[in-house]
Formats: sequence, C-alpha cells, structure tokens
Amino acid sequence: MLILGLESSCDETGLALYDSRDGLLAHALHSQVAMHAEYGGVVPELASRDHIRRIVPLLREVLARSNRSLNDVDAIAYTRGPGLAGALLVGCAFAEALAVALDKPTVPTHHLEGHLLSPLLSATPPAFPFVALLVSGGHTQLMRVSGVGQYQLLGETLDDAAGEAFDKSAKLLGLPYPGGALLSQLAERGRAGIHDLPRPMLHSGDLDFSFSGLKTAVLTLVRAQPEPLSETFKADAARAFQEAIVDVLAAKAQKALQATGLRQLVVAGGVGANRQLRARLDEAARGQGFRVFYPELEFCTDNGAMIALAGCLRLQAGDSAKTAGSFSVQPRWPLAELAAQAKLPPSAA
Ligand code: KG4
Ligand code: ZN
Repeated sequence: MLILGLESSCDETGLALYDSRDGLLAHALHSQVAMHAEYGGVVPELASRDHIRRIVPLLREVLARSNRSLNDVDAIAYTRGPGLAGALLVGCAFAEALAVALDKPTVPTHHLEGHLLSPLLSATPPAFPFVALLVSGGHTQLMRVSGVGQYQLLGETLDDAAGEAFDKSAKLLGLPYPGGALLSQLAERGRAGIHDLPRPMLHSGDLDFSFSGLKTAVLTLVRAQPEPLSETFKADAARAFQEAIVDVLAAKAQKALQATGLRQLVVAGGVGANRQLRARLDEAARGQGFRVFYPELEFCTDNGAMIALAGCLRLQAGDSAKTAGSFSVQPRWPLAELAAQAKLPPSAA
C-alpha cells in the first residue's frame, strides 16, 4: 500500500510517499521560516499563500525521487488539524481534489498523531508502549502512546508551549524569530548561577506545565538592565532561562515514566533538538535505566513523512479510508477526541 502524505498545518509544506512494505520512499519539505522572520512570527495569510505555491513542485519532487507515479498511490493522507485554518484548507483542498481526480480515498489525519508516531520512522524505533514528550512551537504535552490510535494525555502546558517560551524569551534578548535555537547557542556561552529564574509547576504534583511566568521573569530581568543589553548579560540570561525550562521538562518527563511504569521515552518536536535537554535526559536515562529516543531532526519538526506514516498505520489498523471529495478542517482538535471517535475503552489508552 502506497500512501501520499501532505502536511500544511503551519509554516512548513511537507510531502512524502510511504510504502507499507518498503517504508519511507521519499519526502520533501519547504520551510517558510525565512519568510515569516521579517514579521517576528507566522503570518497566517502568507503561510496559506506559500503552501499553494509549494505543494505541486514538492509533489513532483517526491514522485521523481521515489520513481513512482500518481497512479501508484493507494490513498492520500493529509493534516486535517489542529493548525492554522487557512493553511490546513490549502492542504486539505489539494489532497481531496487530487484524490477525486485519481479516484483514490483520503485519510484526514491528526497532526499530533503524526508527531507521536514519527519515532517509528527511525532506524531504531521504540516499541509500544512509550511515553512521548512532545515539545514544539505550538504544543507541549506528555502522552502515553500504547499503540496506533491509543493515546492518553498525561499532562500539557496550561499556557505557552515550550518552543513559544524559547522564542518569546529569545525575542526579549533581541534575537530574531524563531529564536529558540539561537538562544540555546547563546546559552552555551553564558555562566551558570548568575541569574535565578523560576521553575514553574516543578512541584505541582501533576504532569502539567506553565511557561508564561518564566517568560515574564525574563522580561523583568531584561527591564532591570541598562540599554543596550550587553552580550554578557544576554548569554547569562539565556543560560538561566534554558536551565529553568530544561529542569522542568526533564523532571516532568521522568515523573511521567514513573507514573506509567514505562521505560521508554520519546522526545518529539523542535525543542527536542535542544542540546542541554538531550544531555539532561540522556544522563537521567543512564542513571535510572530507561531509554530515550529522539526522532531524526527532519522528523522532529513538521514534515509530510509523519502524516503519510500515520495514515498508513491507521489503514493497517483497520480504519477505513474516506471517499474523496467532501472535506472540512479542524483548526482546534484535542487529540483525546481520536480515542473517543475510535470508541476505545479508557483502559486501552
Ligand atoms: O516542531 P517545530 O518545528 O514546531 C512547530 O511546528 O511548532 O518546533 C519549532 C520550535 C520553535 O519554537 C523553535 O524555536 C524551537 O522549536 N527550537 C528549539 C531549538 N531548535 C528549535 N528550541 C530550543 N532549542 C533548540 N535547539
Ligand atoms: Zn507540529
């Protein structure tokens, strides 16, 4: 079974071809980061228009690279939500129209399900069940992943996502959007223990997060400094911020492993690229005897491969593909609804 996957929920256009027998055949991606950087964040209307421009060339690219034609495709999986309404509509309308033209069915797919299953694209994938720490620009969640369609939300952020906190703090330190990776580079030059920032909800007793207070603490720190901010201050503040957020993410991920009794942790999403977070989790894993899996970076951030894979696994799990033609997107779509739709008993999640 050959699945064409299409991701367009935010600022990346991703297409991929996934074969149920041979695995991922090809994937191609266009990131709009450079276009949005000028505005300091994602501009939804520009995102939608750019998806329109990119989809066809990217589709041609994956077909050429995998040496397949559109007629070989058995079903088209695309991101139905959550995400930006206009951006989702572009991908969804394209996928549904193409499916009508080819007389093939579609698999409207949940973006976060794609992220949760993305570690299965790795050469050394984890086996079900595992705990997933999903840390991206838009989401911060801890999930128990028991199998395809079996996801239990263990905890999530009550306000800002981890990547959002990185980006907003980076902006306060004068770094361009999206500043997460730049802040992390700056932090490597900073000194430890110069500034003390809060670790929100570290001892809350649950698996939820809150990062807006941390961002406000960075703002307070910045306001107390003379302008222009010195390079030394920026590096020390970046280090303090990164240590605070990594402390919280690592502690809650370990707590989730303890609460579920599982020994495998998957870290997905752009913040999973953070070197200090990885070092901290690797050290904890060695000390406590659990394993950490990091999907390759190209599958950590938004991509079409995870959508093609999720669509394929859904069909293999017995879900039926949808007749193409009618469609809607779901900009807000709690992942928990997937389990409800599948009528899974809570114990199966
Ligand atoms: O998964 P992703 O591409 O996001 C969404 O689609 O939301 O992740 C992007 C987020 C951004 O907030 C970016 O600043 C952050 O991941 N990020 C990092 C690093 N690399 C990317 N945050 C901290 N350290 C990094 N090295
Ligand atoms: Zn994402």
